[in-house]
Amino acid sequence: MKRILLFILPILIIIAVAFTLFGILQVRSEEEKLMDDLKRKARTVAESVELSAKYAIVNNDQRAAKRLVESFQRRERMQGCVIYDKDGKILAITERISSWGQKDNPYLKDVLSSKNARGAIEKFGGYSVYSYTLPVLDDENNILGSVEVIYDTSYLFTTLADLWKRISITLIALVVLITIITLLIQRQIFVLPVRRLTQWFTHFQKGDTEKLRPFKEKGEFGKLVSEVEQVALGLRVARKVVTDEAHARIEKQELWTESKLRDLIHAKLGENSFFVVSNREPYMHVMDEVTGAPRCVRPASGVVTAIDPILRACGGTWIAHGSADADRKFVNSKDKLGVPPQDNRYILKRVWLTKEEEDGYYYGFSNEGLWPLCHITHTRPIFRETDWQMYKKVNQKFADSILEELPANNPFVFIQDYHFTLLAKMIKEKRPDATVALFWHIPWPNPEVFAICPYQQEILDGMLACDMIGFHVQFHCNNFLDTANRLIECRVDTEKFSVVRANKETFIRAFPISVDGYIGAQPAKEELEQIKRIRQEFQLQDKLVAVGVDRIDYTKGILERILAIDRFLEKYPEYRHKFVFIQLAAPSRTHIKRYHELIAEIDELVEKKNWKYWEGDWKPIIYLKRYFSPEEIRPYYLLADLCVVSSLHDGMNLVAKEYVASKNDLNGALMLSCFTGAARELTDAIQINPYSIEEFADAIKFTLEMPAEEKRKRMENMRKIIAENNIYRWAASIITELAALKKS
Ligand code: G6P
Repeated sequence: MKRILLFILPILIIIAVAFTLFGILQVRSEEEKLMDDLKRKARTVAESVELSAKYAIVNNDQRAAKRLVESFQRRERMQGCVIYDKDGKILAITERISSWGQKDNPYLKDVLSSKNARGAIEKFGGYSVYSYTLPVLDDENNILGSVEVIYDTSYLFTTLADLWKRISITLIALVVLITIITLLIQRQIFVLPVRRLTQWFTHFQKGDTEKLRPFKEKGEFGKLVSEVEQVALGLRVARKVVTDEAHARIEKQELWTESKLRDLIHAKLGENSFFVVSNREPYMHVMDEVTGAPRCVRPASGVVTAIDPILRACGGTWIAHGSADADRKFVNSKDKLGVPPQDNRYILKRVWLTKEEEDGYYYGFSNEGLWPLCHITHTRPIFRETDWQMYKKVNQKFADSILEELPANNPFVFIQDYHFTLLAKMIKEKRPDATVALFWHIPWPNPEVFAICPYQQEILDGMLACDMIGFHVQFHCNNFLDTANRLIECRVDTEKFSVVRANKETFIRAFPISVDGYIGAQPAKEELEQIKRIRQEFQLQDKLVAVGVDRIDYTKGILERILAIDRFLEKYPEYRHKFVFIQLAAPSRTHIKRYHELIAEIDELVEKKNWKYWEGDWKPIIYLKRYFSPEEIRPYYLLADLCVVSSLHDGMNLVAKEYVASKNDLNGALMLSCFTGAARELTDAIQINPYSIEEFADAIKFTLEMPAEEKRKRMENMRKIIAENNIYRWAASIITELAALKKS
């Protein structure tokens, strides 16, 4: 529209200016013509009256003079005549203008003395009139008196105004006509071809090759179209070659790597890249409070840690909530951007939510309802009807946003977590051909617990539209099957591990998630410098260092951890001054009351315990409460003798796996809560029950005193497990399983 305006506006301005100038000239000439006519008429009338007036003046015949001036009374418009004697006294005046006589007419003396006629525009009783005064002379050229004829000129202005009106109407008609013609022409020569090209491209983008007909356009535009067609053809061929080569390469490699996963995806999904959906976006643009400039951060989220390497490896599109304050500044017209920002590997599409939507769907239903429902931490879930309505609305909003992106044939949508239990159904309603899988990153409770959710039916119904639902551990799969069996009408197939509901079969599978692993990666020079700096800053030389890395969440057992450290130092005072615990804690979901309270509880407990043991320059707990990027966290992993993961309940816990993966020198030990998914795989970790503070405290001592050789052995075993079961293998298993299920 702006472009059309830019094109039409100058034309219209030129026409308007030309027409106005023409109008001014036209009106002026018309005005002059009318004035000339009026003057001529006034003079002729005055001259025709002169003779009779002469007679009346000479004979002082008042009656004749009166008759003469009264003949004007009958004429239309404001007109009149005045007869003066030689002293300028009125002999007779037309009644209609009788008050004219009371005017002081200074020009009268001039006319009588100069004996010359005079015509001029005058004002009279709110009217504009033309007055023409003619001297009356005898045969010897002596002045006898004068005759004044008065004409109303207002009709002149009416006539000119009419003329302006006609010119304006013509101008408007012309502008409208030119605009319509321009719009029609530009639609024909610009809009329609561009629209055809856009449609063609949309089909190409979505892999709808059947609709790609040869594109016929002439002229310069035709040349552009032809170039575009060549590029598209090149891309299509390249994609096909990649798919074929990928098939061949997968067979050869053993350990799962980024490139092997890339090959698998190309081989299984062919030309169509895949779509990941999650609430949390992998890259957030936030305004830096100190510098006031936007910066990109990677949020503290297990989902992000796990899925980002997969998309980096194989491309595709990730659709997530654009929740950060500077996010809108970095997207294109379709709310997309290439990420990672410095090395675009895949597309991030941001979905915008209003404050009310975020409150109801994210803070309310997802995190005050489903999150505590699924974690056994004795925090009561809160279910509000308004939150549920928002949750449904936001699921629909995401569904619409995803549907816009899906390619024409067999798309693969991979949904993450409890924020989107209704999404699969919404997608399948419009695109039954889409393969949809949901991965549940948190625990699934038993049927008794799940049954307290007032919206259990809709949630299970929504989830069972998926082709496959994944959990981290078999135990959660079993819980889910039990829940479906007890709470909704369906058939659970315990052989195939699937649920059949309304003729739709959903496979339930366990896929323990993992990290991409720094396995084999030696610490970089900058990391070694960082470690040195941290040791100096916190005076860690000669100290045994334990580390904890968590979002501040009541499921993470941070309070229990501090209580255990307190008990450890109380019970084994020989470790005072020798042991330091560093907690990196990222504030999270802070608008929720429970989280807010937890932050205060941790602050208070840390303060209290540090105060209890503080001696000289040693205090047992270093509590760093802020967001840490993955690059900032790694030096802490590298320097720590011990990593403490004490979750009260956790679907997997990737901190445990990250720590092990980073311990290249095998020098470290992992204390791991038995209530995490990771505890089932990492059996060489020192397992703890975080609720048992006494046992926990003893486990710290046990770990610290463990012989170095045993620590190395345990670390080696755990690293082997992670190397073999890394995130690429996790993604590959899901995709392979889905592809196989689809075929069977
Ligand atoms: C858990 C959930 C993720 C979530 C993460 C961080 O790991 O499974 O889906 O992203 O917590 O929570 P947040 O609410 O900050 O995204």
